[in-house]
Amino acid sequence: MTTINTQTHLNRAFDLVIRNGKVATATETFEADLGVIDGKIAAIAAGLPTGKRDIDARGRWVLPGGVDSHCHVEQLSGMGLMCADDFYSATVSAAFGGNTTIMPFAAQHRGDSVREVLEDYSARAEEKAVIDYGFHVIVTNLDDQALKIDLPQAIRQGVTSIKVFMTYERMKLDDYQILDVLALADREGALVMVHAENNDVIRWLGDRLVERGLNAPKYHAVAHSGLAETEATNRVVTLSRILETPIMIVHVSEAETLDCIRQAQQKGAALYAETCPQYLFLTAADIDKPGVEGAKFCCSPPPRDERCQRAMWQGLIEGTLSLYSSDHAPYRWDETGKLPKGEKTGFREMANGLPGIEVRMPLLFSEGYLKGRLTINEFVALTATNHARMYGLYPRKGSIAVGADADIVIWDEEREITITNDLLHDNVDYTPYEGMKVTGWPDTVINRGRVVIDNGELKVTRGSGEFLPCGLPEPVAKARASRNPEALIRKLVDTPL
Ligand code: URP
Ligand code: ZN
Ligand code: ZN
Repeated sequence: MTTINTQTHLNRAFDLVIRNGKVATATETFEADLGVIDGKIAAIAAGLPTGKRDIDARGRWVLPGGVDSHCHVEQLSGMGLMCADDFYSATVSAAFGGNTTIMPFAAQHRGDSVREVLEDYSARAEEKAVIDYGFHVIVTNLDDQALKIDLPQAIRQGVTSIKVFMTYERMKLDDYQILDVLALADREGALVMVHAENNDVIRWLGDRLVERGLNAPKYHAVAHSGLAETEATNRVVTLSRILETPIMIVHVSEAETLDCIRQAQQKGAALYAETCPQYLFLTAADIDKPGVEGAKFCCSPPPRDERCQRAMWQGLIEGTLSLYSSDHAPYRWDETGKLPKGEKTGFREMANGLPGIEVRMPLLFSEGYLKGRLTINEFVALTATNHARMYGLYPRKGSIAVGADADIVIWDEEREITITNDLLHDNVDYTPYEGMKVTGWPDTVINRGRVVIDNGELKVTRGSGEFLPCGLPEPVAKARASRNPEALIRKLVDTPL
């Protein structure tokens, strides 16, 4: 218990005390009471005085609230389809799953202004969110207004991560444009997140499949070849190494991609990577279900084989993958999402993406922590702390420490749950994890000291979540400490051969 701060505010009663719990952070495990004042953790010590409200957590894990840094909410997809969840249903579902912060995307589509897109998403989230949220921005339209004015301003206002796509006709950037975004992010202080799949490979394979009349959902996984992911990853890693600029490869699914990431990290690249529940708990065999049932499992990249599944676990265990996010991309199994042409929907027509914001944490708690693959501290790092560090929210979020926001989740590690769609609170009409049995579930969820979920009941109102301006992402701060971005550009372009 080396870092417990026993500072107490003896002149003022605690608003809330969480008593007798087993507290775990990303680095430590100890028993203590947590005292909360004005939404912040004010004391961590044994035997704190009674607060205005006391919660007895004896025998239960008391962990930082989950930070889900990859989810899609009220967003138009790369195919132009609207997600099934708005900021209310997504944040309610996230909270029931043990999250106190989400980071969805504000998506610029071609022709949109980054400034207007951010204003629009912010207004919708402010009205509906029940837990805290920060934004990443997706860029597709790199005109001077975006590069020189809107993105630098967005970064100054706390949107410090930018996602780029290497695939989807309506979203993809070419390598030149990606270099522009990397240089801008480096200069202004943002982290670039990359959806790495080779668009031409997917398009070419897709054309050959369709020519042969092979349209069933399972062919989505054939078109989205693992090597298309590995090639694009290798290419964007190379771009980031040329500019010595950090990047985050999101939703890694393929074992060879992981090898590529590991090798680059070993060479010292400022390279970070994420995986998601669908790559640990589903495989391509799930897509190969009769009729259009397989559409329920189609996301990009798709779940792959058991070898890749094992590789993803290994990546989390050894730290090559530092984030575990949901990539919640909610589409209903009907004509609004997965089945625009009903039973006749081909693999190119259905929405890409899976719901998972509510089951992300319970799945990893059960199969990662309780099955002994991960320690409780690793579980905390992968679901909360690393996300906050990566995207400039640490130590306010993702930690249990004096001065941090009181974002705390009490877990019942004995509760056995069979996942069914009825249990979940998103606006999707199925779950890809239907019937899976997990042990452990978050029973009390506290965000800035407000009890959000108590005994299975939502206790807060629409719009009570707060916008989180993100600071400098740690990877960017680390890269800056080792060199100056402008000096690097000068070295690259001005040094004679
Ligand atoms: O299929 C997926 N992952 N859909 C969500 C959008 C994205 O690329 O993350
Ligand atoms: Zn993506
Ligand atoms: Zn995504």
